[in-house]
Amino acid sequence: MTLRTVELGSADSALTTTAFGYGAMSIAGAYGPIDEQDSLELLHETYDRGVTFIDTANIYGLGVSETILGKFLAGQRHEFTVATKCGIEPKGEAGKRGANGRPEHIREQIDLSLGRLGTDYVDLYYLHRPDPEIPVEESVGALAELVEQGKVRTIGLSEHTAEEIRRAHAVHPITAVQSEWSIFARDVEPYVISACAELGIGFVAYSPVARGLLTDRFGAEVLAEKDTRRKFPWFFPENLEHNHDLARRARELAAAAELPTAGLALAWLYAKASAFGVELSVIPGTRYAQNLDELLTGVQAELPAETISALDELADQVHGDRSFSPTWVSGGREGLIPRS
Ligand SMILES: NC(=O)c1ccc[n+]([C@@H]2O[C@H](COP(=O)([O-])OP(=O)(O)OC[C@H]3O[C@@H](n4cnc5c(N)ncnc54)[C@H](OP(=O)(O)O)[C@@H]3O)[C@@H](O)[C@H]2O)c1
Repeated sequence: MTLRTVELGSADSALTTTAFGYGAMSIAGAYGPIDEQDSLELLHETYDRGVTFIDTANIYGLGVSETILGKFLAGQRHEFTVATKCGIEPKGEAGKRGANGRPEHIREQIDLSLGRLGTDYVDLYYLHRPDPEIPVEESVGALAELVEQGKVRTIGLSEHTAEEIRRAHAVHPITAVQSEWSIFARDVEPYVISACAELGIGFVAYSPVARGLLTDRFGAEVLAEKDTRRKFPWFFPENLEHNHDLARRARELAAAAELPTAGLALAWLYAKASAFGVELSVIPGTRYAQNLDELLTGVQAELPAETISALDELADQVHGDRSFSPTWVSGGREGLIPRS
C-alpha cells in the first residue's frame, strides 16, 4: 500500500515522508501495557499499511521505544524515515521531567540513540523542549554540527514558540516543528503554524486524537489508576465528563460523515493544514492494528465545510489546559494557555 507523502522543510533541508507517521511512545507503554513481541508485530502491520515515518524519543520508556525500534529496523533501516528527540531528562521522581538543551548533552544523547536504534543516522532529530537556561541558538548550533557529521539528516523543534522557531531557523534551517495539534488543542494556530507556513517549515502534529478522547472507544474506564493522562487537566475528574461530552459531539459528526472518530480527527487536521498552507504529517499512537485502520481512514477523507466549522467550535469549550504546566508547551509561553 502506498500512502500520500509530504515534504517537510525546504531546499537542502527538505525531508519527504508519509503524511501519517506512527507515534512510537505507545510501544513504551505510555497508554497501557504492550509487550515487545506485540510491539514488533504492530510495527510490521504499520509498515504493511504503507507507513514509513516513525516517531520516537530517548525519553520514551527511557530508551525502551528506541530499543524495540532498533530490533524492528534491523535489515530494513533505509525503508524508513526515523525521527527521534533529545532534551527532556527525568528528574529523579516518577513523572518529573526537565529540559536540557546543553550542547554536550545533545552530543552525548545522539550517540546513545543511534546505538539503541542500531543505525548510524537519524532522518530528523528534534530538540524535545527549549531549555530556559540555554539560548535556542546554542542548542541548534549543536544540532547543526550533528548534520555536518552525518549523524542527523535534518533538524526539528518540539513545543517551541514562534519566536524561538524564528531564532533557531536563522542558525540552521528547521525542517519540522512537532507540537500538539488537534480539534481539542488549537493554541499552535495563531503563531506557531503561521511561522511554519511563512518559513517553509513542516508541521508534525502529536496527540492528534487528543490522547484517545477523539476516538470511538474512549471512556473514563480506560484510564487505569496509573494512566499518565491523569496528570493532564483535560482528564481531571472535574473536567473529564464535560470533555467527554464534547468528544461525543465529534463522534456524532464522524458518524454523519461515515468515518471513525479517529479518522475524522485526522481529516480535520489535514484540512486545517491545507488552509494554513503548511505541510503536515500526523503521528498518532496506538497499540492495536484495528485502531490503526481507523486512524488511516483520515488520510484520504475530505470533510464537508459545515463539519469542519462545527468541529472548529469545540476547542474553545474544552475544560482544562492541554498540559500539566503551561510553560512546558509553546502556547503557555505565548500567553495562550491558560485560556481562562
Ligand atoms: N513532542 C512531544 O512532546 C510529544 C508529546 C506526546 C506525544 N508525542 C508523540 O506523538 C505520538 C502520539 O501522541 P499520543 O500517543 O500522546 O496521543 P494520540 O495519538 O492522540 O492518542 C493515543 C491514544 O489514543 C488511543 N487511540 C488511538 N487510535 C484509537 C482508535 N482508533 N480507537 C480508540 N483509541 C485509539 C490509543 O489507545 P490504544 O493504545 O489503546 O490504541 C492511545 O490511548 C506519541 O506516540 C509520540 O510519538 C510527542
